Amino acid sequence: MQNPESFQLPPQLATNAPDVDVLYNFIYWFSVAFTALITGFMLYFIVKYRRRPGVKAQPAGHNTVLEVAWTVLPLIFIVFLFHYGFKAYVRTAVAAEGAMEIRVMAAKWKWDFGYPSGRVEPSELTLPVGKPVKFIISSEDVLHSFFVPGARMKKDAVPGMYTSMSFTPAQIGTMQVFCAEYCGTSHSGMLATIKVVSQEDFDKFMKEGENFEPTAEVGATLYKKNACNTCHSIDGSKMPGPTWKGIFGRKETMSDGTTLTIDENYIKESIQKPQAKVVQGFQPVMPPYTNLTDKHIDAIIAYMKTLK
Ligand code: CUA
Repeated sequence: MQNPESFQLPPQLATNAPDVDVLYNFIYWFSVAFTALITGFMLYFIVKYRRRPGVKAQPAGHNTVLEVAWTVLPLIFIVFLFHYGFKAYVRTAVAAEGAMEIRVMAAKWKWDFGYPSGRVEPSELTLPVGKPVKFIISSEDVLHSFFVPGARMKKDAVPGMYTSMSFTPAQIGTMQVFCAEYCGTSHSGMLATIKVVSQEDFDKFMKEGENFEPTAEVGATLYKKNACNTCHSIDGSKMPGPTWKGIFGRKETMSDGTTLTIDENYIKESIQKPQAKVVQGFQPVMPPYTNLTDKHIDAIIAYMKTLK
């Protein structure tokens, strides 16, 4: 964990972060100074011009110099803020030449990241340090918001359209991603991380692809990585989706009244087409997990079998 930039701000992990912090600190200290100054003058005048016997109040009259000053000085201040802020905004709104395009796909309640190669990874995005990235953000269901405090960046994921933002990771380490738009029951659990690595490690990561055996251990990691845990408990507690405790081989009644035994085929169908057969008493809210390959699904089934 990197040290925070200040008491109020997290570490600056992207190249545009200092711009935002300069503005933030400027406005902050400007406000602190003026609050102290104005309050000080008010207290001073309260005492100085208090009502005293024998002293009559005099109208203040007109002071052109003063009036021009308090109109023009704030104007200069606002123009400076706008100029600096707009420049900083444009640097993040317009991606640098040759930026790597990353798809950010939001759904209740998970983040999926798509690489230019077509590979999709849930919950963890790996990026090379120092290389500009353009994020193309979309939502499969409701409004979410892709928030990366380390980069001082946030953009809404809006259903039915694409939004974009861009930044360049400045140092090797981990950035936390939050959902910053209330999107339902597990909004607070809609988290992801951005792992910033060297270009060498990134190339290795892209080449390696996915080398794993579909074991229960891998299934357990996929359960967390794909945010299955935001809707399915493994201890029997009630959540938006059926619990995975004892799920394999369980008899369930579907919303259309039919009953079936949960087996490999049902699980696979429910991951790929969640709305096909919904267990009675649950809302049809699960998104399809198209990022999961057959091997992933095998691992998840192996994990489910261990949850007795
Ligand atoms: Cu997604 Cu809040």
